[in-house]
Amino acid sequence: MRIAIGNDHAAVELKEQILAYVQELGHDADNYGTDTLESCDYPEYGEKVARAVAEGRADCGILICGTGVGISIAANKVKGIRAAVCSDTATARLTKEHNNANIIAFGARIVGAELAKEIVKAYLDAEFLGGRHEKRLALIDELEERERK
Ligand code: RB5
Repeated sequence: MRIAIGNDHAAVELKEQILAYVQELGHDADNYGTDTLESCDYPEYGEKVARAVAEGRADCGILICGTGVGISIAANKVKGIRAAVCSDTATARLTKEHNNANIIAFGARIVGAELAKEIVKAYLDAEFLGGRHEKRLALIDELEERERK
């Protein structure tokens, strides 16, 4: 899988750990995040990863900021993006199985590196279940279309 990873200044170290981890798992990873601790604006990185996923340059994305919240809100403004903040492995699995999330996000100030790796693995190992969930995703797409008019 090709994975787009992005982060702000709050998550540089965790980004490096997660980048190395997904490569260890055998995936290709592209770094769209900042690599310095200088204060920056998370919407820029949320957008970069979201566009990479929406345009098919990546199969899925991982976003990390202080909480995972701001950067996921920004990513969700890009058409077709379903970014979910996950602070536990059950949510990470379920957001792929039920919501077919194409980006997961978490907070470097919220989860430790080991839990973050488990969250990433739970998400990457899971598969969208389809079925009744398809209809709900179609409703989200419809909502998105209505909002754009
Ligand atoms: C940066 O201080 C912080 O606001 C950001 O990383 C993130 O937590 C926002 O949601």
